[in-house]
Amino acid sequence: MKFGYFDDASREYVITRPDTPLPWINYLGCEAYYGIISNTAGGYSFYRDARLRRLTRYRHNNAPLDYGGRYLFVRDNGPGVPPERLYWSPTWMPTRRALEDYTCRHGLGYTVIQSTFNGITVGARYFVPLGENLEIWQTQITNHRAETASISLFSCIEFCLWDAWDDATNYQRNYSTGQVEIVDDVIYHKTEYRERRNHFAYFACSEPLAGYDTQREAFLGPYRGWHEPLAVERGESGNSVAHGWQPIGSHHVRLTLQPGEARAVIFVLGYHENPKSEKFDPPDSQTINKRTVKPIIAKYLQTENVESAFQQLRDSWGGLLGIYQVESPDEHTNRMVNIWNAYQCMVTFNLSRSASYFESGIGRGLGFRDSNQDLLGFVHLVPERARQRLLDLAATQLETGGAYHQYQPLTKRGNNDVGGNFNDDPLWLILAVSAYVKETGDWSVLDERVPYDNRPGSETPLYEHLQRCVRYTLERLGPHGLPLIGRADWNDCLNLNCFSDAPGESFQTTANKDGRTAESVFIAGMFVLAAREMAALAKCKGEDGEAERCRAAARQVEATVREHGWDGEWFLRAYDDFGRKVGSRDCEEGQIFIEPQGFCILAGIGLDDGRAKRALASVKERLATPHGIILQQPAYSRYYLHLGEISSYPPGYKENAGVFCHTNPWIMIAEAMIGNGDQAHDYYLHINPSAREAISEVHRCEPYVYAQMIAGRNAANYGEAKNSWLTGTAAWNYVAITQWILGLRPTLDGLAIDPCIPNGWEGFRVTRKFRGATYQIEVKNPNRVYRGVKSVRVDGREIASAVLPVLGDEQTHVVEVVMG
Ligand code: GLC
Ligand code: GLC
Repeated sequence: MKFGYFDDASREYVITRPDTPLPWINYLGCEAYYGIISNTAGGYSFYRDARLRRLTRYRHNNAPLDYGGRYLFVRDNGPGVPPERLYWSPTWMPTRRALEDYTCRHGLGYTVIQSTFNGITVGARYFVPLGENLEIWQTQITNHRAETASISLFSCIEFCLWDAWDDATNYQRNYSTGQVEIVDDVIYHKTEYRERRNHFAYFACSEPLAGYDTQREAFLGPYRGWHEPLAVERGESGNSVAHGWQPIGSHHVRLTLQPGEARAVIFVLGYHENPKSEKFDPPDSQTINKRTVKPIIAKYLQTENVESAFQQLRDSWGGLLGIYQVESPDEHTNRMVNIWNAYQCMVTFNLSRSASYFESGIGRGLGFRDSNQDLLGFVHLVPERARQRLLDLAATQLETGGAYHQYQPLTKRGNNDVGGNFNDDPLWLILAVSAYVKETGDWSVLDERVPYDNRPGSETPLYEHLQRCVRYTLERLGPHGLPLIGRADWNDCLNLNCFSDAPGESFQTTANKDGRTAESVFIAGMFVLAAREMAALAKCKGEDGEAERCRAAARQVEATVREHGWDGEWFLRAYDDFGRKVGSRDCEEGQIFIEPQGFCILAGIGLDDGRAKRALASVKERLATPHGIILQQPAYSRYYLHLGEISSYPPGYKENAGVFCHTNPWIMIAEAMIGNGDQAHDYYLHINPSAREAISEVHRCEPYVYAQMIAGRNAANYGEAKNSWLTGTAAWNYVAITQWILGLRPTLDGLAIDPCIPNGWEGFRVTRKFRGATYQIEVKNPNRVYRGVKSVRVDGREIASAVLPVLGDEQTHVVEVVMG
């Protein structure tokens, strides 16, 4: 069952009924000012940091689920209106009246919600203009009645007192601190501006006000909820001024509309900073200096400025997405590659794992591992920003080569509470840097001098950081010669040194064992891959000795995997603290895990001796399901002290045998590597959100973006997705489809063409911008093969290899590829 449809031409998902199984959200903003907005206008806004600079309040895990947001109320002021038609919300929530023709269009960086009730159509377009720290609610009210309509429009948001954590806990203080100013019909929220803050929020409206409210209880009325505000019911604002308690911003506009008349009303909610020395006007007063913000407010209360800002936003996304566009026989592939998967990758770049409807915005910082992987999906879109991200990440690396597991985006410092010793972490930096160089050809990044742990004076070239990553693993090999796992590897929940039996202890930071026994076959596979990438970088730099050392180290670990990491029909997962196998047919539960099958094969292990094929056959037999490939089987039915968090989840959820979507593309890539185009693309479709749109009542999360997890077959809610948006799933699926299935893979030498597609496809076309040239590539598959390139012509001339030369001439080149 569907709750809407894709409008690919407009790059929008159109939701056609408000009661989606879960709130289906979108993101506003892509630079510093951000908002989350659901299909019923729920959500909140913040400046840079969802915890420390929160503009508006939001209560997660509330009832109803999505309560609080960018609300509008319309009141019918005509005589004799029955109570059930007196007022409504054009976004459905919070009043939940039966709207006619409701639609919510989630687009790239904007959302439009429109509906009709009793002959009045109200549309609201929400977006953040590029380069500004504000959001616009561009509304239009149309009277479709045969007679004149007398209408009141109310806006309402609830201000957060900046630090969202403090705001949600420290009531003894913050019930007394809230302050506002109301000047020229603009509501200014200035809590703590009197002391150390030099920023404030403002909420403005383009029309003269009939009234306003800034104190929540005055607007709602005592003991009332957002669905029945007293001020709206009465048709009269209280003109309340907040002193402590809960400051809000609400405007009231009265409109008289002739039959057929449409009126625009613009609301602007923004964040503004003043220089510390110019906070007040007059200087010795306590009044906000508004001279710096007034021109901005005035600008965006004008329709033509709003329209052109919106057009700029559309153009900017069009430009970004134009870097990789495909036309294939499969619409789900086209739609995700051309629009939604790329968009989601940008959202993970901007927000990492901080703010979604599953991440509260007050929790974790940027993950070291997560951010390196996210980069794989956006490096071609914003290479300069990717470069900076790499340098920031590397600056949190420790001198040992190890890494803090997380760092804080505001301070760019490693997070001491979480610490390090996730032994896979450093290796991701190699994969990310290598991906950056392959995309851009910018070798200078390796010479950038970067400190360790942000300590001035400790700088070395980035290249040396990578060398230390390699060494970090080699200095931490266990009894079988496999890498020690530390606190965890990619699977944060496989905690082999934790042994926690105290409720509430963190599985990620508790370590009760010395950590010198438990080993990870996943890290071994990843090391082989990373060491070979490092060897390739070293070779191009002319460091032949270093290149050979890396290759030798890769050979050594590969040999160890063959000897101690193979279980007969698949790759083992690990050895535990007792030296016993994890992920082996000898185990009672958790016999086979997806991660080592993916990463060992990605590293090339088993491609030459049939083990890769054997392992993938085992994956298909034991882990593949109609809802995606499960992380491991059989699920752990009880808690195992020596395995940790993985066995804390009920069977079928999260790492305990859920479909952890992040890992599925590794298997797609592995299938492509062995030339199995049907299987690779089939796995791709099973978790592709657009392909799952038809079962939205089962999937429940948004059909336009990936979720981290789909409940596995051991779960009661088999097939139900959770944790949408902020997940490494976005980047890895993008890599699998664009680089391995469609097969346009940036390499150090140029753009390789190596598709592995379903043999039913007669071909496909891609436009790809790469290192300063545009390639219009047409791939033909006359013999209906999965893989193999017979000939490549560039601008009519046949070239000898399937790697497109770097032309860098800002021109468009026509590339004809024949498979066979
Ligand atoms: C979450 C984490 C990621 C980890 C994965 C598996 O997605 O953000 O770092 O690799 O879970 O545990
Ligand atoms: C929990 C989650 C896992 C995540 C980890 C780190 O363990 O299950 O997916 O990676 O927290 O935040």
